[in-house]
Amino acid sequence: MSCIPCGSAAAAAKAVVAVSDTTMPSKAEVQARGLLIDLYRAKPCMPIMVRLAWHDAGTFCAKDNTGGANASIRFEPEISHGANAGLTAATQLVQTIKDKVPEIGYADLYQLASVVAVEFCGGPSIPFRLGRKDAVEKEVTPDGRLPDAKQGHEHLRDIFYRMGFVDREIVALSGAHALGRAHADRSGFDGAWTKEPLVFDNAYFKELLAKEADPSLLKLPSDLTLLDTPSMSKWVKLYAEDEQLFFRDYAAAHLKLSELGQFQ
Ligand code: HEM
Repeated sequence: MSCIPCGSAAAAAKAVVAVSDTTMPSKAEVQARGLLIDLYRAKPCMPIMVRLAWHDAGTFCAKDNTGGANASIRFEPEISHGANAGLTAATQLVQTIKDKVPEIGYADLYQLASVVAVEFCGGPSIPFRLGRKDAVEKEVTPDGRLPDAKQGHEHLRDIFYRMGFVDREIVALSGAHALGRAHADRSGFDGAWTKEPLVFDNAYFKELLAKEADPSLLKLPSDLTLLDTPSMSKWVKLYAEDEQLFFRDYAAAHLKLSELGQFQ
């Protein structure tokens, strides 16, 4: 057993507190992570959880500091905005975890559910901290802040630059479409972007560049437009070649997304 020199017990205790403040997840976070993993083992709902967290955070406007990762998406009318079709199923699933770990707020839980989903599907570890402030009902964000899948790269820039992202981050974040699928009754689009939509890897970029496109796979106009401008297409190519680079960039961009409007 290591020995603490006389007189330094208080300093050692302080050091332990400092370490646990910055690096150790709280008991509640550990419990919530465990419950999320149980949920994902029983029900492969990881993609919709990633979409829920993104649609909550992606309303952020850096100019006036409104929107962001504050769980305003749980309220009407935001949850009924066209872009959020189908996401009530995800808020209901998160509620089952919230009921068991009430000390964690909704905004934290939505983002934690997404971070754990990416990790569960084999993607990168994404740094996470608790402490987001939940929005109250009157803080719902107006409709029209999320991207329109039918538009091109100038529109993507309008939307993502408003949140404070740059082209490289737009491309990295789009790689989340490695997961999940579109549903005709939600967005009007149908199909998955990759052959293994429960695996988080760089397949989205490989499929985007494939010489012979697989007709069974989906490419939204907002996916294809990443090839329309060199400042985006160069990242599509690099991420298709180098999964580690994609994972590093994705984790950094996802962390930034998950904290928009919080921790200032
Ligand atoms: C699904 C559009 C960016 C994660 C979808 C769907 C559309 C869409 C139309 C299909 C929804 C449905 O029918 O169920 C867009 C557009 C984006 C974008 C236009 C602009 C670049 C992102 C980002 C993320 C993300 C940044 C996460 C970081 C997902 C996931 C799904 C999805 C995981 C699958 C959901 C499921 O399987 O239920 N997206 N998205 N998307 N999106 Fe995006």
